[in-house]
Amino acid sequence: MNPQRRALLRAGSLAAALPLAAGAGSAAAASAALAPPLPPLPAVPAGTTPEVLASNQAYWQAVAAQYDTTDAIVQLDNAYWGAMARPVLRHYEQQLAMVNRDNAWYARMRFPADFEAARAAAARALGVASDEIVLTRGATEALQVLIAGYNRLRPGDTVLYADIDYDNMITVTRWLQQRRGVQVVSIAMPEPFAHDNVVAAYVAAMESQPTLKLMLLTHVNHRNGMVLPVAEISRLARARGIDVIVDTAHGFGQLDMTIPDLQADFAGINLHKWIGAPVGVGAAYVKRGRLADIDPYLGEKAGDDIRTRVHTGTVNFAAYLSLPTALDLHAQIGVANKQARLRLLRNRWVEAARGIDGIEVLASGDPRLTSAIASFRLRGKTSVADSYALSKKLVQQHGIFAVPRDGLASGACVRVTPGIFTPESHMDRLVDALRKVARG
Ligand SMILES: Cc1ncc(COP(=O)(O)O)c(C=O)c1O
Repeated sequence: MNPQRRALLRAGSLAAALPLAAGAGSAAAASAALAPPLPPLPAVPAGTTPEVLASNQAYWQAVAAQYDTTDAIVQLDNAYWGAMARPVLRHYEQQLAMVNRDNAWYARMRFPADFEAARAAAARALGVASDEIVLTRGATEALQVLIAGYNRLRPGDTVLYADIDYDNMITVTRWLQQRRGVQVVSIAMPEPFAHDNVVAAYVAAMESQPTLKLMLLTHVNHRNGMVLPVAEISRLARARGIDVIVDTAHGFGQLDMTIPDLQADFAGINLHKWIGAPVGVGAAYVKRGRLADIDPYLGEKAGDDIRTRVHTGTVNFAAYLSLPTALDLHAQIGVANKQARLRLLRNRWVEAARGIDGIEVLASGDPRLTSAIASFRLRGKTSVADSYALSKKLVQQHGIFAVPRDGLASGACVRVTPGIFTPESHMDRLVDALRKVARG
C-alpha cells in the first residue's frame, strides 16, 4: 500500500481512536473553516450572456480588485501559474499558520478528512467521481504518473506525441522507448492551424502507424495556445483501439468544460493555473474501470484505490486546504464568463496585431480553437535567439513581459497570456509596442 495512503489511514484511525481534547479546538475549527464566504461581486442582470458580460468594465474591475497585481510591468505571462485571488491568499495564509502551529496534531488527526473534502470538491468541479481522481502537486506529477505508468504497451507498439506538447511530457513519452520497448514518433501541427487540418493530422498519423497504441494530447498547449479538438480525436482513437492521455494543464479552469467532455480515460490537470489555487495543486484522472492500466507507484502494491498511483510524501497541507476556496471563487465568477473575458482580451491584441506588417500571429480565428494564450513572432525570425531578443525588447523598451517559447516545428515565438484581472489597456499597450517593434 502507498505509504501516503497508509499514513492517511493510520492517521484516520488515530483520529477515530483518540478523543479530541477540549483544548484541541483550533484544529477542529480549521477543518470547519475549509471554505469561508467570499466577498460579493456586482450583480449581473439575469439573462446576461458571457459574451456581453465580457465587456462589462465595472464587473471585471470588481473581479480584478480581488487580486494583488504589480505596477512594475505589464504582466502578460499569466500562463505560468495563476495568481491567487486575495480571499484565497488570505485563507491560504491562515491555513499555513494553523498547520504550522498545530503541526502533527493537526496533520495526523484532521488533515486526512480535510484532504478528502478537498478531493471531493475538486471532483465535483471536474465533473467526475472522487475515486476517479488523486490530488497531486501539479499537472507534471499527474502526467508523469499516467504516461510512465500506462502498462498496456508491449515492445513493438507505437506511441505518438506532437510538437505542441509540453517539454517534460515529451521527455517522459520519449522515455517509454527505454521503459517499454516501444517506438515513439512525433507529428507537427499544421500552420496556420484550423479545426479540420489539425484533426486530419492526427487521423493521418493513426492511419500511417498501424501499431499505434497510445497518444499524448495537449488540450491547450503552452506554445501557441491552440485548443485541440480533444473529444473528436479521442473518439477517432478509441474506434481504432488507441488510448489517449490528455494534458489539460491549461484547459480545465479557463475553458467551459469538465473532464468527461474530453472523452478520454486519462488526464493530467492543473488547479494552480486557471483555478488559482496555491502553487502545488493538481490532479490525475483515471476513468472508473481503467485503473488497472496504470501501474502502482514505483513498486507500491497494486490496489483499486487511485491514491496508490501517486506517492508525494509529506505535502503542502495548506495548499490543499485552500483549494475549496479557490474552486468556490471560480464558480462564483463562472467559467463561461472567465472564458469569454479571456477571449475578449486575447482577440483584442490578436486581431489588431494581424494587421501589423512584419508581425506573424500564431493564433486561429476559429473560436473552437481559441484560448487565453496566443503567440507571435517577427515574420521570418524563428530562432530561439530571435524570440529571446524580442521578449527582452518588449521588457526593456515597452515595460511588457511576455515569455519566449520554442519547440514548435515552425520555430520559436513569444507567448502572450492575459489573466481575468488584466485590463484592456494592457492589451492596447502590447499592440502599440508591436507596431513599434515591427518598424525596427
Ligand atoms: C501544457 C502544459 N502541460 C503541463 C504543464 C506542467 O504544469 P506544472 O508545472 O504546473 O506541473 C504545463 C506548465 O506550464 C503546461 O503548460
